[in-house]
Amino acid sequence: MITLDSIRRPVERELEAFDAFVERNIRAEGELLSEMLRYALSSRGKGIRPIVVMLSAALHSPEGRVVALERSCLAAMLVEMIHVASLIHDDVIDEADTRRGKPSVNARWQSHRAVLLGDYILAKNLGVGMASGEFDLVSHVCAAMATLCEGEALQSDCAGRRGATRGEYFDIINKKTASLIAVSASAGAMAAGAPAEAVERMRRYGEALGTAFQIQDDILDYTRSARTGKPANNDLREGKVTLPLLPLLEEADAARRDELLDRLARCADDERSVDYLQQAVERGGGLAAAAATMGEYVARARAQLAPYPPSPVRAALDALCSYVAERDR
Ligand code: FPP
Ligand code: MG
Repeated sequence: MITLDSIRRPVERELEAFDAFVERNIRAEGELLSEMLRYALSSRGKGIRPIVVMLSAALHSPEGRVVALERSCLAAMLVEMIHVASLIHDDVIDEADTRRGKPSVNARWQSHRAVLLGDYILAKNLGVGMASGEFDLVSHVCAAMATLCEGEALQSDCAGRRGATRGEYFDIINKKTASLIAVSASAGAMAAGAPAEAVERMRRYGEALGTAFQIQDDILDYTRSARTGKPANNDLREGKVTLPLLPLLEEADAARRDELLDRLARCADDERSVDYLQQAVERGGGLAAAAATMGEYVARARAQLAPYPPSPVRAALDALCSYVAERDR
């Protein structure tokens, strides 16, 4: 099993510099915001996005040592703070009580303060970006904020009107997840001064990696032994049609489809419907089919690395593809 520690190794020093950069630049005024901010930043997740930024910057630097460290730290901070703020807002929208095994910000401080904290993080982030004068990077990364909102709005629209198509599912995950991982990879290359075609190649790498990442997230939601720190089957309770459920809906006749969608609509407050759909997905091969589709995106991400000569940094970006597909948390 590939570990995230081994993937981080080629850019360990750069990631330490990134942590110090965030510590220096993202600070709050007043007791309440300071306490909430400390909580949100100390319960950050795996840090996949900063890892992608730094590995991509290293891939486009001589001998794999990031040349423009300050610019790369800025790119990683811009991406990671958008991610942190979006999850704080997402937990308000989903009325989620836990995030990574701990109370969500909204559960601990109530939704109105959680919204404020997310806004505050975004405001600080933009402020640091504008003060840096690195406008190419800031406008490149911050364009993803609107895309995330579009993904979240489409997801809400689909959950509210019985079912989503495969096309809508891929549109949602492209916008809500793949877009920010794509921007992490392209911004890393951009920070290192790579040419436009390399920036675009890394965008494609990140987009495919991010799609695989979200598919695995959706598979883990149906996997009761997963260690995500979130209750299993949350997506069903939130009325979301994700990839594992799609083949069942697609292969069903009209009556069966209606039955499945009725069950889904009841999942919010009926655990028997949750169990029913969980088992229908397992027995109907929905998890295996989703895993096969994820494998196609992993291969697509890997293929983007082919033009680069072998190096520890390229190997880490390649290993990240396996990690994303194998992870259980
Ligand atoms: C998690 O999805 C949510 C996202 C990846 C994106 C959330 C985006 C917004 C709330 C729009 C606001 C954007 C900004 C820039 C503040 P999920 O609910 O499927 O995953 P989960 O199970 O981890 O909650
Ligand atoms: Mg959520």
